[in-house]
Amino acid sequence: MNQVMEVLMKRKSVRAYEEREISAEVRAEILKATLRAPTAGNLMLYSILDITDQKLKDKLAVTCDHQPFIARAPMVWVFLADYQRWYDYFLASDVEGLCSRRGLTLEKPSESDLFLACCDALIAAQNAVIAAESLGLGSCYIGDIMEQYETHRELLNLPPYVFPIGMLVFGYPTQQQKDREMTTRFDEKFIVFKDCYRRLDKEEFDEMFGKRKLPKGKGMEDVTNFGQVMYLNKFGADFSIEMRRSVREMLKAWRK
Ligand SMILES: Cc1cc2nc3c(=O)[nH]c(=O)nc-3n(C[C@H](O)[C@H](O)[C@H](O)COP(=O)(O)O)c2cc1C
Repeated sequence: MNQVMEVLMKRKSVRAYEEREISAEVRAEILKATLRAPTAGNLMLYSILDITDQKLKDKLAVTCDHQPFIARAPMVWVFLADYQRWYDYFLASDVEGLCSRRGLTLEKPSESDLFLACCDALIAAQNAVIAAESLGLGSCYIGDIMEQYETHRELLNLPPYVFPIGMLVFGYPTQQQKDREMTTRFDEKFIVFKDCYRRLDKEEFDEMFGKRKLPKGKGMEDVTNFGQVMYLNKFGADFSIEMRRSVREMLKAWRK
């Protein structure tokens, strides 16, 4: 395995950190790699917030579904899907005047632009993950930054065409985190198809999830399979319901 493959294959999410600062040089290296990520049309449809204020970290640890390790991470970056910068530039460039001379209506950022900006932001984020890993740091995505749209808009001063699509927390992993087992992945036959998409049948699902243990305990008495566990813990959980509400609110502002 070459070194890049080794970094990719050994990475795991890290949620506990040594009390060790990340030097300015290391931060700069990670940022350099982040900004070299591929970007749609070379537009760089994203911005990054480097969260340095401890009080703000503390708040995000609460608003992002109560995950205290966020507050303890020495480096916290919020990745924003950002069409505001381009739209403001168009306005500053009198694109409105150009459009009216040509009998065109000025196009506003739409859902497709949001999707593209989200792609850009997350692709850049993944460069940061890999760069950090290669420098001995661990990281963890925080998807819950998509929740609490109104609160995050206020806290982070976000205009309408900016949405926090992901947050990354970084730090040097503790020994326990280094020793922790890696997570498993589904067999590729359930994930990769030739040419056309294919829906899986019951038998395949049984094979896919068969080895997973059912949790026992309170609230799980009537649960009979892993699909039910995952529905309760993820898709139907409070954080997912809040994320749906929050993204719907954001879309209203984006579409206005
Ligand atoms: C989009 C996205 C959102 C995530 N959000 C969270 C999160 O809010 N909290 C957390 O602890 N882990 C989060 N994770 C990390 C996943 O739980 C982790 O990647 C997954 O369990 C696989 O483990 P591994 O990264 O160690 O291989 C997120 C990962 C992704 C890609």
